[in-house]
Amino acid sequence: MEKPYSREDLDSFLKIAVRLAKEGGDVLRHYWGNLRSIQSKEGSGNIVTEADKASEEVILQILGDTVPTHGVLAEESGAHEHRGTPYLWVIDPLDGTTNYAHMLPMVSVSIALLYSGVPIVGVVYNPILDDLFTATIGNGSYLNGNRLQVSRVKDLEHSLLATGFGYDRRTVKDNNYAEFIHFTNLTQGVRRLGSAALDLAYVASGVFDGYWERGIQPWDVAAGALLVSEAGGQVTAYEGTSVDLFSGRILATNGHLHKDMIDTLKTQLAPINHA
Ligand code: IPD
Ligand code: CA
Repeated sequence: MEKPYSREDLDSFLKIAVRLAKEGGDVLRHYWGNLRSIQSKEGSGNIVTEADKASEEVILQILGDTVPTHGVLAEESGAHEHRGTPYLWVIDPLDGTTNYAHMLPMVSVSIALLYSGVPIVGVVYNPILDDLFTATIGNGSYLNGNRLQVSRVKDLEHSLLATGFGYDRRTVKDNNYAEFIHFTNLTQGVRRLGSAALDLAYVASGVFDGYWERGIQPWDVAAGALLVSEAGGQVTAYEGTSVDLFSGRILATNGHLHKDMIDTLKTQLAPINHA
C-alpha cells in the first residue's frame, strides 16, 4: 500500500520537530538555575515550573504557524482539538522536571509526530548536554547526526536496565517497586534517570539494554519509542503485544532481552502486583 506521506514530507516534519526541540531547549537553558516558580500538580511529588510552561508556549506557537491543521497533545495544555487529521504532535516541553528543578542535567524536550497513532518522527533533545536524538520511520535513529544501534547484550545477567516511578507511587500497590528490586537482583544494575524520553534514547544508543515503566504518559515515551525501534530494538506492551502509547505501560529492549523481560514481568511480578 502506498504511504500517505513521502520521504520529503518526513524530512520536512523532522525539520519542524528539530526546530521545536531546539527552541524549547533554548527556553530550558534560559531558566536553568534561575527558576522563580515551582508549583505542585496533581499527584504527590509532581511539580511544574515556569520553564515547562514557557517551553510549551514557544513550541505551540511554532506548531500553530507551521502546521496549523495538525492535532496537538501537549503535557501542560492537553489536547488541542483538530478533527479529521491523522497527524498528531505529542509534546513534552520538559521531561525530567524534578531533575531540572534540582539542576541534574538529565532533562529533555520530547517531540513526536504520530500518523494514525503510529510515531513517524521522534526527537529528544537534552539542551544542557546539547544531545539531539532524532528518528524518522524507516530511516534509522541518530545522535547529533551519528547513526545509533541498540546493544548486543544477550542476557539479563550482563545487562544495565532503566526504569522510573509514576507520581502515584505512594498511593498505588502497582508502583513498580517489586519490579525494581527483582530486576536489580537479576542484572548489573537498574538506573532511574528521571527522564523517560532519555531512558529510551539511551536504549536506542546501546547504553541501556532495556527499559520498562508503568504510569507513564504518551508525551514521555512517543518520541523515544521510535528512537528505539529505528535503532533495531523492540518496543511493546509488558505482555509483548503491540504497544499502546496511551496505555501507561511500555517495555523497550535491544530485542535480545525482550522475552526474558516479558517472562519476568509476567510470571514473577504480575501475581504480586495484582494479588
Ligand atoms: C517524568 C519522567 C520520569 C518518569 C515519570 C514521568 P516529567 O516526566 O519521565 O522519568 O519516571 O513517570 O512522569 O514529569 O518529568 O515530564
Ligand atoms: Ca514534562
